[in-house]
Amino acid sequence: MKVEFSAFPKAFSGNVAVFVAADKQLLASAQAADKKSGGTLTRAMAAGRFTGAKGQTLTVLGNTGGADRLLLLGVGKGQELDARAAEGLGGVIAAEANAAGHKAVTVVVDPVKGSRLSPGEIAARIALGARLRNYRFDKYKTKDKPEQKLSLTKLTVAVSGGPAEARRAYAQLEPTVDAVFFARDLVSEPANVLYPVEFARRAKELTKLGVKVEILGEAEMKRLGMHVLLGVGQGSERESQLLVMRWMNGPKTQAPVALIGKGVCFDTGGISLKPAGGMEDMKWDMGGAGAVVGAMKAIAGRKAKANVVAVCALVENMPDGNAQRPGDVVKSMSGQTVEVINTDAEGRLILCDAMWYAQEKFKPQAMVELSTLTGAIIVSLGHERAGLFSNNTPLSDKLRDAGSQIGEKLWRMPLGPKYDKLIDSEIADMKNVSNGRDGGSITAAQFLQRFVKEGVAWAHIDIAGVAWSSKGDSTTPKGATAYGVRLLDKLIADNYER
Ligand code: BES
Ligand code: MN
Ligand code: ZN
Repeated sequence: MKVEFSAFPKAFSGNVAVFVAADKQLLASAQAADKKSGGTLTRAMAAGRFTGAKGQTLTVLGNTGGADRLLLLGVGKGQELDARAAEGLGGVIAAEANAAGHKAVTVVVDPVKGSRLSPGEIAARIALGARLRNYRFDKYKTKDKPEQKLSLTKLTVAVSGGPAEARRAYAQLEPTVDAVFFARDLVSEPANVLYPVEFARRAKELTKLGVKVEILGEAEMKRLGMHVLLGVGQGSERESQLLVMRWMNGPKTQAPVALIGKGVCFDTGGISLKPAGGMEDMKWDMGGAGAVVGAMKAIAGRKAKANVVAVCALVENMPDGNAQRPGDVVKSMSGQTVEVINTDAEGRLILCDAMWYAQEKFKPQAMVELSTLTGAIIVSLGHERAGLFSNNTPLSDKLRDAGSQIGEKLWRMPLGPKYDKLIDSEIADMKNVSNGRDGGSITAAQFLQRFVKEGVAWAHIDIAGVAWSSKGDSTTPKGATAYGVRLLDKLIADNYER
């Protein structure tokens, strides 16, 4: 979909969206159209439930003041129109256009009283939201009818006071869209197509943006002593990979932020095999790695003045004659040993070596790790928020603030010595699961924390409940959400950039 910003049109034509604030307050352009059409808009509102509440729509045909169709778009109360709300309006415009089969829409952005956003900022956010919503993973659909495809190919945003500010603001936001789509594509791909080597190959594309991409295979990981990671991939025909990315565009002396991603391209559970029902979902068990690669694309795409590195552990967890057995003991790169009680608790196994590698190699000031780690986090938080575990309150607050601004919400969960004790092993330094299922997300986080070096601010974000959406939201169609791409990009933009 193409986006164009323009000045206010002299006359309406085609499909035009205009703003109506709460309690049927027609904003300037809607008011003018209402007048021109002899009160058609007022009558249309009177005939139904449309009040101008945020996200409500009403399509007016016929006598519309020049347009072929007018979409009255509820912007709600002015005070509530922040950046995220404006993105949601863009999402609504895209969804309505696609539902109706329209190819092009013009949205007319009037100043909104009470909002802290200027028309230019509102316009840029609307464009971002519309683009984020205008996504469909249909590359394997060979028989789609035209009405099943996305129809919207052009959005014109007409801005009160002229398009210059909107253009500038949107230029900063646009790399986010490509990054989110890149991550959604990775997460949506089936596991026969996207296995560790293929994932790494696609990530290599970021080289074009100036990201240094390095890929380690099994032989190199063995030399480094990453036996816990390698144990997980041992039952797979597909080679495990360690994807290492570098974007060092910040001050030379500044220690980088390390982003770590869980990239289990398919999780059968291994010998601790998962039940058949719903196992297909485990193609998106690489959502953490997908988000991290997407975030690197966003960060490099807007040439962030920051030092950011990324390490993604890419494996496939399969049952096989050569697969790891429950009870096996393996040694990590850190030197600590792990008793593998349950081969389905594989995420923490690959992450512990990836985290250790990142800390040894890059001496990061902070390390943020994303993973679809536990079903238990879905029991705790459902699909509305990701679980946040951290040894550092300032970092937690930064993540929470970033998330609330861009609509990827987090909830901090506890850690502590009594939880930590639950993963002590009789035979090794630790076991990969505790005895019961109780507090399953917390014991998983405790396992990871045993691989955090002194002085490193660390956060683990369990995205099992939010990486995939069965219903979608205003700017995310159902399916892969790319949760984390915008969160990490915003974290860097607001806190680690100069
Ligand atoms: N990838 C799963 C977690 C998961 C579950 C992600 C559902 C998305 C949706 C993870 O590897 C796993 O299998 N975790 C186990 C841990 C258990 C064996 C301690 C779980 O949550 O059941
Ligand atoms: Mn598993
Ligand atoms: Zn998993």
